[in-house]
Formats: sequence, structure tokens, C-alpha cells
Amino acid sequence: MKNKSLVSIHDYSKTDYLRIMDLAEEFERNPRNYGNLLTGKVVATLFFEPSTRTRLSFESAVQRLGGRIIGFADSSSSSVSKGETLKDTIKTVSQYSDLIVMRHPIEGSARWASEVSDVPIVNAGDGANQHPTQCLLDLYTMKQTQGKLDNLIITMVGDLKYGRTVHSLIQAMLYFSPSFHFVSPEELKMPNEYKMFLKEKKIPFKEHHDLSEVLKISDIIYVTRVQRERFSDPIEYEKVKNAFVLKNSMLEDTKPGLKILHPLPRVNEINEDVDTNKKAYYFRQALNGVYTRMAIISSILGLK
Ligand code: CP
Repeated sequence: MKNKSLVSIHDYSKTDYLRIMDLAEEFERNPRNYGNLLTGKVVATLFFEPSTRTRLSFESAVQRLGGRIIGFADSSSSSVSKGETLKDTIKTVSQYSDLIVMRHPIEGSARWASEVSDVPIVNAGDGANQHPTQCLLDLYTMKQTQGKLDNLIITMVGDLKYGRTVHSLIQAMLYFSPSFHFVSPEELKMPNEYKMFLKEKKIPFKEHHDLSEVLKISDIIYVTRVQRERFSDPIEYEKVKNAFVLKNSMLEDTKPGLKILHPLPRVNEINEDVDTNKKAYYFRQALNGVYTRMAIISSILGLK
């Protein structure tokens, strides 16, 4: 992991996943013991798309480890607005920092950035493609709540077409013998390339149009937002935006250990009456983003 970019979840092995989770656990257990680990290090956060959790949890992770942050949350305040290319921006910022965390709307942009950067790049989401650090925090959260990662029944709900977090997660679960259930409107089904991947790896999955069919058998319900920003036609978005809404009343008779996850932000897909249910874990999942990103940064910088 040392000095290596993290662009896709495939850049890490199963051993790497387990190492990041162990390290995240150590940071969670002893959050105040590592306040000088990143002394003298500068991390750049370049966000060409909006973010709350990913950017701020990365920044919180760096601050907790004693490092410094530079960057922008809105590229209109950078020289990109004057027509500077992504290549020149990355090349320049890589002179100023030890690591760059980048979110960009174009699929493949993070890989391109890693090829021109003089420091490692961490992909904080590239279009509908990958979100590997979210994936690692999702793995950490599933292990934390279930006590294991093996043989889980995982139901993914919502926008499975554009949801980059579900794309990364199904690929990472390759090593842990999962069973998947996909619940989505027809227009937002899991893309064929990911279903082909699951078939090749002999990972069972089933597609559904009715959420109630699978609630009772699931260990994890992973809900995703319908991503308005990926629709070119707003009428198409309006048609599907409220296709699946999870309500507290629907959680009766579900498994006692069931946990509901969501990468957030949420719009309407989980009713607020679910928030007080012990099975709702999405805000705790967001906190795990800090510990997991502390682990990722310190591993890439070779400090852990
Ligand atoms: N989960 C996630 O990527 O959230 P943000 O878009 O707020 O970063």
C-alpha cells in the first residue's frame, strides 16, 4: 500500500482490506494516541463534485493524525475555471502535497490523475465508477455489526445503475462468499458488467422489484439514493425517485442482527422514522469513515 494510489477497489488485495480494517479498529479504540503521526505531512483534497462526508471525514482524519490540509471544495475557486487542464492541476498540486484525495464527475479521471501525479492519488469517487474508500468503510462497518464478513446476505436497494458505492462493494465482497439481492426500478438495475462479474465468480444474486420479498432474510440492507445529477432527463428522474422508500413499519419481523446501511446523503429513500430503530446504522457508518480514512492515509504514507 505504501506510496500506491488507491483508484479502484481492485488496487487492494484481501490482505490489504483486512489490514485497513485492523488499523481502523486500532484508531477507533485509541483515537487520541496518534495526534503526531502525520506531523509535517500535507494532504490535498480536490473536490470537483459536492461532498459532505468524504471530504470532511478525510479532513477530520488528517487533523486527528496531526497533518495539514490544503485544497478546494468547489473547483470554481481554482484555476480550472480559467481553463486549466486536470493534468496541469494535478501535476501542480502534487508539488505542494504528500497525497491527493480527488473527487471528479468523469469516470476514469482518478486513474488518469494517478498517471500524471508525483504523489499517490486516492479516488474519492469518479462519476458512477468507483468509490473505494467508501467501500473499505462499508466493509469495516459490516464486520463491526455482524462480527464477520463471510456468508452475509446483502440486499442492495435503489439506484444500482449509477451508485458507485454498490459497484465497489460487490467487487470487494468477492473474497467473503456473500449472497446478493438487488432491488431497484427497471431503469436503475445493476449494470450487466457487474452481473457478469458475479456470474464469473459464482457469487449468487437475484433481482427483485419488491423490497418486502427480501427484508426478512437480509443481514444487511444497503440503501442508495437515486442520483439526480446523473440523469440527463429530469422527467426520467421524477419517475423513479421515490420507487423504494424504507419505513420503520417494514422492519417488523426482520432478523435481530439486521443493520441498515446507506452511504448517505439520503433524500427520501429511508423515512426518518427509521432513524431511531436500533437496526439503523448509517450515521455510525459515516463515523467509521474517519477511522477507515485514518487507516488509508497512514498506510499510503508508510507511517503505519
Ligand atoms: N458517502 C458519500 O460519498 O457522501 P458524500 O457525497 O457526502 O461525500
